[in-house]
Amino acid sequence: MEKNLVFYHPHRVKKEDRSSIKGHRPCIIWLTGLPASGKSTIANELEHRLNRIYKAHTYLLDGDNIRKGLNKDLGFSKKDREENIRRIGEVARLFVDAGLIVIAAFVSPYRKDRNFVRGLVEEDEFVEVYVKCPLEVCEERDPKGLYKKARSGEIKNFTGVSDPYEEPVNPEVVVETHRMGLDECVDRIVNFLKRRRII
Ligand code: ADX
Repeated sequence: MEKNLVFYHPHRVKKEDRSSIKGHRPCIIWLTGLPASGKSTIANELEHRLNRIYKAHTYLLDGDNIRKGLNKDLGFSKKDREENIRRIGEVARLFVDAGLIVIAAFVSPYRKDRNFVRGLVEEDEFVEVYVKCPLEVCEERDPKGLYKKARSGEIKNFTGVSDPYEEPVNPEVVVETHRMGLDECVDRIVNFLKRRRII
C-alpha cells in the first residue's frame, strides 16, 4: 500500500485532556521473564491493588489471553514473537493515549522487541519490570507442564530450554520471585510508580 494515501487525522481531544480527568498518569508497566517466572500472578495482584487502593484506571494484557484472540494467528518463531510484541506494543500505546495504566505480561524474550515498545511512548511512560527467577525454579514450578514437554522435544523453541531469553540490561524494576513473596514484589513496583509520580 502506498504510504502517502494514508493521512494522520489530528483530534481535538488530546492525550493530556483524557489523562487530566484521571487521578494518575498513564504508562506501560512491562513485565518480562521466563515462562513460569510469575509474571501473570504479579500482574494480576498489581492490577487489583492499583484498582482497589489507588482507584487507577488500568488494563491488563496477558500473553496467554492475547494469543487466544488478537494474536491467535501467531506462533513462537522469532518473527512471530516479534509481531506478537509489536501488536501488543501498538495496543498498549493506544491505551496510554487513552490515559490508562497498562500492565503487560509477556515472555518477550528479545531485547530489541522490548525496546521497540519502549520507543512507542514517552521516556517516563515505560516501566520495564524484570521478573527474575532461575530457570531451575521455573522448571520445577512448571504449572502448565510445558517445560516437561519442551525437554521431551514435544514443544520446539521453548524459551529457556530450546530458545533464548535475553535478560533486560537496565530495567526500571527487578523482582526476584524465588526469594520474594508476592506482596513484596508488588510493593516494589508500586513504590517505583509513586517515586515517578505515576500514582
Ligand atoms: S512471547 O515470547 O511471544 O512474548 P507470550 O508471552 O506471548 O510469548 O506467550 C508465552 C506463553 O505461551 C507462555 O506462558 C506459555 O504458556 C505459552 N507457550 C507455548 N509455547 C511456548 C514457547 N515455545 N515458548 C514460550 N512460551 C510458550
